[in-house]
Amino acid sequence: MDSIPNRSIPKLHEAFQASFDIGAAVNPRTIIQAGELIAKHYNSLTAENEMKFVSLHPAEDTYTFEEADKIVAFAREHGKKMRGHTLVWHNQTSDWLFQEADGRPVSRDKLYDRLKSHIDTVVKRYKEDIYAWDVVNEVIADEGSELLRPSKWLEIAGPGFIAKAFELAHEADPKAQLFYNDYNESNPAKRDKIYRLVKSLLEQGVPVHGVGLQAHWNMYSPELDDIRAAIEKYASLGLRLQLTELDVSMFRHDDRRTDLASPTAEMLELQEQRYEALFKLLEEYRSHIDAVTFWGAADDYTWLNDFPMRGRKNWPLLFDEKHEPKGSFWRVVQRS
Ligand code: GLA
Repeated sequence: MDSIPNRSIPKLHEAFQASFDIGAAVNPRTIIQAGELIAKHYNSLTAENEMKFVSLHPAEDTYTFEEADKIVAFAREHGKKMRGHTLVWHNQTSDWLFQEADGRPVSRDKLYDRLKSHIDTVVKRYKEDIYAWDVVNEVIADEGSELLRPSKWLEIAGPGFIAKAFELAHEADPKAQLFYNDYNESNPAKRDKIYRLVKSLLEQGVPVHGVGLQAHWNMYSPELDDIRAAIEKYASLGLRLQLTELDVSMFRHDDRRTDLASPTAEMLELQEQRYEALFKLLEEYRSHIDAVTFWGAADDYTWLNDFPMRGRKNWPLLFDEKHEPKGSFWRVVQRS
C-alpha cells in the first residue's frame, strides 16, 4: 500500500473535545524539546516535579518558583489549562518541614502552621492559572488492613492532616477543584480503601471535589473490568474524576527484561489494542471524567525509562521518540 504523504494529523485534544480534556505532564526541558507537540496536542498541563514541596520550598524562608513559573508561562502563552501537583505527599517533601532546628520532630500545630503558609503561598500565587489541585497524594496503604500508609504526616499529626490540607487549600482558593490522587486505584482492595477515605472526608464536610486516578497502567493490567468498577465506585460518591498520570507501560509489573532497544511489532500492536479499549471505556464514562492527563508527552522522555529497571527503555505514550504519532494515537483518535 502506498504510504499517505502528509496525512494530516488531528490534534489529540480536539479529537476528545466532546468528552474530556487531554493533558500532559511537562517539565522545563520538555516544553522546549517537545514544545510544538505539547502545544498542538494537549490542552491541559501538569508540572511533572516543579510544584512539589521539595521543588518549591527547600527551606522555611526560601521559595523557588523559577521552574514552575516557566511551565505556567508556557501554559499562558498557549492558552492551556493547568492542574496543580501536589500539596501533601510523603515523597519529595523537604525534611525541614517536619523538624525543629535541632532535629526534633515539630508539634502538630507547628506542622499545620507551616502547611498553611505553604499552601497559601503556592495556591494563591497560581490562582489565575491553576483550576484544580492534587491536594493529597498517595496516603492509602497498598497492602494489608491499615487504611493509611506510614508517613511523617501521620506520625506527627495523626489522620487529621488529610482533612486539614483540603480545608487550607479551599481557603486559599475557594474556586479550585480539589482532588485526592492515588495509584493502584483500580486494584479492588486499594480502591475500596480510597473510597472509604474519601467518603469519610465527604461525611465530615471536607471540601474534596474529585478523585484522581493516576492510571500508571501497563498492557496487561489492570483489567478493564477493574478499571470500570473503580470508576463507578468513585463516581458513586458524586465526585468528578480525572485520570491524572496515564501511561501504558509495555512491561508487566514483574517483567525484568532489559534487552530491547525498541518495541517489537507485537508489543506495538498490543499497546494499540489496549489504548483503543481504554479510551472506549473512558468515553463511556465521560459524564464523570473531566480530564485524561498523560504522564509525559512522547516516548523520548518518560519516567519509565530506567524505572523500575535501570537501563531499560519503555514506550508508554501515544507519540514516539521522534514525536510522530504511533499506531496507538491513530487507534484512539479513530475509535468508533
Ligand atoms: C507518582 C507521583 C508523580 C510522579 C510519579 C512517578 O505517581 O504522583 O508526581 O512522581 O509518581 O514519576
